Amino acid sequence: MNTHIDEAKRILVTNDRGGYTVPTDRLYPFQWNWDSAFVAMGFALYDTDRAYRELERLVEGQWADGMIPHIVFHQPSDTYFPGPSVWRTKHTIPTSGITQPPVFVIALRKLHEAAGNKDRTLPLYEAALKWHRWWYSARDPEGTGLVALLHPWESGSDNSPAWDVALARVPTTTDTPVVRKDTGHVNAEMRPRDEDYRRFIHLVDTYAACGWDPARQWEKAPFKIAEIQTTAILLKAGEDLEYLARLFGRTEDAAEIATLNERTRQAILVQWRPALSRFVSRDLISGEDVEAATQAGFIPLLSLDLDRQIADALVDEMKAWSEGLKVAFPTTKPGIAGWEPKRYWRGPAWAIINWLLIDGLKRNGHTEAAEELRRSTVSAIEAEGFAEYFDPITGEGCGGLGFSWTAAAYMWLMKA
Ligand code: GLC
Repeated sequence: MNTHIDEAKRILVTNDRGGYTVPTDRLYPFQWNWDSAFVAMGFALYDTDRAYRELERLVEGQWADGMIPHIVFHQPSDTYFPGPSVWRTKHTIPTSGITQPPVFVIALRKLHEAAGNKDRTLPLYEAALKWHRWWYSARDPEGTGLVALLHPWESGSDNSPAWDVALARVPTTTDTPVVRKDTGHVNAEMRPRDEDYRRFIHLVDTYAACGWDPARQWEKAPFKIAEIQTTAILLKAGEDLEYLARLFGRTEDAAEIATLNERTRQAILVQWRPALSRFVSRDLISGEDVEAATQAGFIPLLSLDLDRQIADALVDEMKAWSEGLKVAFPTTKPGIAGWEPKRYWRGPAWAIINWLLIDGLKRNGHTEAAEELRRSTVSAIEAEGFAEYFDPITGEGCGGLGFSWTAAAYMWLMKA
């Protein structure tokens, strides 16, 4: 009997707000997009009904144009900023106006394989397909195969050094007064800086002024990154969507998705940089590579069957970054300028990122490296609890506690 599993399940019960799970109490009191997808995979291991509910409740927030927003504000809370009055969106229930990595359909496939309930899977498949089409039309209007983010929050890696250069161009002026709540819940040293927040809100104001219309936003965006982690996750989502389309006899959908997948596969390969031993994102405003050394460059392992040479180079580089660390995998290369082992996405290890990397390493035949990373993640959680993330040097659990996706990741990694 593993008491950590019991504790993980208890966290999901505590964070339940009626068929959906908040990431953690107070700091994140609503439904978050990719958090819920990871949580649904956790539930899929022991309660498929609850897993379906998680995804169904997220889809309540889906916009008419297909986007599934990064936050669904099912009920009010005054412990979070920016709330619905800042976003000024027009959906039937309040939501944010930006999105997050499409882990949703990856979860849906796993759930369908566990539950086999076609009646419940099919409407969610339709929602996922609409969202998939939105990604390609709204965020890759030129058909390059890479999808762009218009806000750092869309990456799920809010204050990653990957955004430093591009974000510096975004003004710190805002129409909306910035009234942070997060630093009332968690030590400010572990959170993004005030200046980052002003830029984040400047972007929200800019897009709200565009009425959240994708074409107007594309034209006005002062921040536009064709992003490698999100695109790699989208390709994995595309593979799983294609799988479901074939399973349900949706031949035309399957052909459409397969074409998009192939385009994206080729586009990701173009982003390989042998000199860095990583894949890179592209800043669409400056036209330059985003060379900052972050975890994003390794995520293509998840959705590509890479040439041996590339996979080996990635694994060697990952080992170099992880050397001497108490907990892998650091979201920023240790020691570089900008590396801060406790500050959110500027260095710490996150269980859900490790989960993606572990799946990617396995896919590419690096089972030993996968197992090492799995063990590192599991022991960090067993030592420190279900923290939001971990300081890779000391192993300390940081950020919010009782975190839902860390609980889901633990359950999944104990099964793997
Ligand atoms: C932060 C994280 C993001 C996550 C959200 C809720 O914004 O950067 O990845 O989805 O918190 O946990």
